[in-house]
Amino acid sequence: SKGAAMVTAVAYRLATQQAERQRVLDSLRLSREQLLEVKRRMEVEMSRGLAKETHRDASVKMLPTFVRSTPDGTEHGDFLALDLGGTNFRVLLVRVRSGKQKSVEMHNKIYAIPQDIMHGTGEELFDHIVHCIADFLEYMGMKGTSLPLGFTFSFPCKQNKLDEGVLLRWTKGFKASGCEGKDVVALMKEAIHRREEFDLDVVAVVNDTVGTMMTCGYEDPHCEVGLIVGTGTNACYMEEMQNVELVEGDEGQMCVNMEWGAFGDQGELDDFCTVFDRAVDELSTNPGKQRYEKMISGMYLGEVVRNVLLDFTSKGLLFRGNLSERLKSRGIFETRFLSQIESDRLALRQVRSILQHLGLTSSTCEDSVLVREVCGVVSRRAAQLCGAGLAAVVERIRQNRQLAQLRVTVGVDGTLYKLHPHFSTIMLQTVRDLAPQCKVSLLQSEDGSGKGAALISAVACRLRDAGQH
Ligand code: GLC
Repeated sequence: SKGAAMVTAVAYRLATQQAERQRVLDSLRLSREQLLEVKRRMEVEMSRGLAKETHRDASVKMLPTFVRSTPDGTEHGDFLALDLGGTNFRVLLVRVRSGKQKSVEMHNKIYAIPQDIMHGTGEELFDHIVHCIADFLEYMGMKGTSLPLGFTFSFPCKQNKLDEGVLLRWTKGFKASGCEGKDVVALMKEAIHRREEFDLDVVAVVNDTVGTMMTCGYEDPHCEVGLIVGTGTNACYMEEMQNVELVEGDEGQMCVNMEWGAFGDQGELDDFCTVFDRAVDELSTNPGKQRYEKMISGMYLGEVVRNVLLDFTSKGLLFRGNLSERLKSRGIFETRFLSQIESDRLALRQVRSILQHLGLTSSTCEDSVLVREVCGVVSRRAAQLCGAGLAAVVERIRQNRQLAQLRVTVGVDGTLYKLHPHFSTIMLQTVRDLAPQCKVSLLQSEDGSGKGAALISAVACRLRDAGQH
């Protein structure tokens, strides 16, 4: 009969819709074998980045930082610190005290970096930074004092010494002109001279991963890896000097800023990428660059999710097929929304109200279930990819030291890592699974960027003063 034919047609449509949903979600799932392959490729790229011969062509740059040890508690003094490149731009005053009562006291102020400055000229950007420092000194009642300054500058920099950093390229949506290829300390000094008001003594340029490792190393001597999962993602670790071929000398160790966000820039991740990853990459300010970062970090995860939702909607599987202007706007899924949607304590109607808050008003209860599932698949993949990279790092440290078992702490910071309800658990499971000979603990850093820059500055000042006497 006609009725039966219609029922069959509907059942058929539902079945194909269900199959299509599964197909898409499966494309975002990684098997254990695939994760092992990611780890293996990361190991290869690490070696290529470290070696003189292959460094130029390596996607993971493995940049020497000139930080040769983790803190030992004797660091001391008052320092200014700048933190540029994370969620907020901040200026800090950090008081580090050594001895039995070793402690770190901090004051900081957050400043906005307006979009037009991020995308303007380098001079405007550094004038703005110096303006904020001046404001901070005034605010703290410290005008006229000159303290050594540690600059946490969280972008890839080539360093030939601790107090110099040549910006290789902007990442994470920054694109102020005339900075790439220049030493950021020199750019800052020029801005200070233009202002003709005070002088500053920049003693260290520090990546946020390094600051995080140092901060956690202050509490835990096993901390030899720093990891950031925030706006961007990156890691650093203590490497044997003999393997750091870009720097003279074979004795001891040096911290290496991996710049692992660029992993995949030469196709190493192509077979794991989906159409959604390619769409996110193509619409970004730096197409073709930071491919691993674009599958992991806070600046991009929401965009991956949004692209999946767009696909589902255009196929009529979501939001009643209504492709709203909201859903078409970039950047609506910020880290905090993803984290909220995936929170276990959240009832479905709350997911729905978040979607409504985002302007996705046509959502039904089934829509909420599917959106939550998409978020879960995308963030799980991010945490697993990050875990696979981390497994390569700890495994390399273990092999460097020829140990059967390595006990190591990873200092971690970043808004995604801190806000997301499952990221750290999944990441840790993955590392433990892929690097079974390493006993890995995670230590969340409290304000790693600022504190770490001060600790590194303290060592720098001590060495410098020792050199003068
Ligand atoms: C980007 C930067 C890197 C930084 C990371 C986390 O990947 O290139 O230097 O450490 O973001 O902020």
